[in-house]
Amino acid sequence: MGFKEQIDLTRLPQHIAIIMDGNGRWAKNQGKFRALGHESGVLSLKEIMESCVEIGIKYLTVYAFSTENWSRPTEEVNFLMELLISTINQETATLTKNNIKLNAIGNIASLPQKCIDDLDSAMQKTSANTSCTLTLALSYSAKWEIAEAARKLAQQVKDGKITVEDINEEAFSSQLTTLDMPDPELMIRTSGEHRVSNFLLWQMAYTELYFTETLWPDFRSESLYEAIVDYQKRERRFGKISEQLI
Ligand code: FPP
Repeated sequence: MGFKEQIDLTRLPQHIAIIMDGNGRWAKNQGKFRALGHESGVLSLKEIMESCVEIGIKYLTVYAFSTENWSRPTEEVNFLMELLISTINQETATLTKNNIKLNAIGNIASLPQKCIDDLDSAMQKTSANTSCTLTLALSYSAKWEIAEAARKLAQQVKDGKITVEDINEEAFSSQLTTLDMPDPELMIRTSGEHRVSNFLLWQMAYTELYFTETLWPDFRSESLYEAIVDYQKRERRFGKISEQLI
């Protein structure tokens, strides 16, 4: 029996977050340029996105470009920005066909203007779609996001809109870029690295972490189903003991 058949569709995670890692190593292993790894990475993202819709995952959030990625060689940064633009433009039709809503989180204002404009246009075109929300984390870092939330709350206190006593977990969450989404129940990181690398730190307080050696361009539908089956075998206790969960 394949992994897909083993999935209990009544206990799916609502939200899956993915750190798509290993594009460069995948290309190097084949004696190819890193760019080819990123291009193949887009094919994986496309397949994973379609599989999420097929089985009923409501939110998919992928780390497409971190704040730290700006320090890569200029040619690679430029290539990734171009790839982002061409992917958005080529795949808006796929998003629409699959009823997927496109969303973006991160310091979007720091992206090249063409990226911002094309992203805006694709988000606009897909805004009424309801099967799944695909969120691209772009120029994103969780520490940046948390500092921004703290700054916004401080400003609201300063302006007399809220008091210091109003600041609690809920108020804080409402200032994050993920305010409209449930926290991810499952986070997948490919390529054998066992880190969360500044991704959704607040939102992943109780997320189940799944690490696989598979490099992102090789991570396809069956790999996703395997991760979900693994997730479903786990007992999520949220600080309680097993007997309290029955
Ligand atoms: C990590 O692999 C991947 C990235 C930094 C970029 C992820 C981008 C894509 C999958 C494609 C672009 C996405 C969109 C939405 C167009 P790495 O380069 O860090 O690999 P390495 O660790 O083997 O060097």
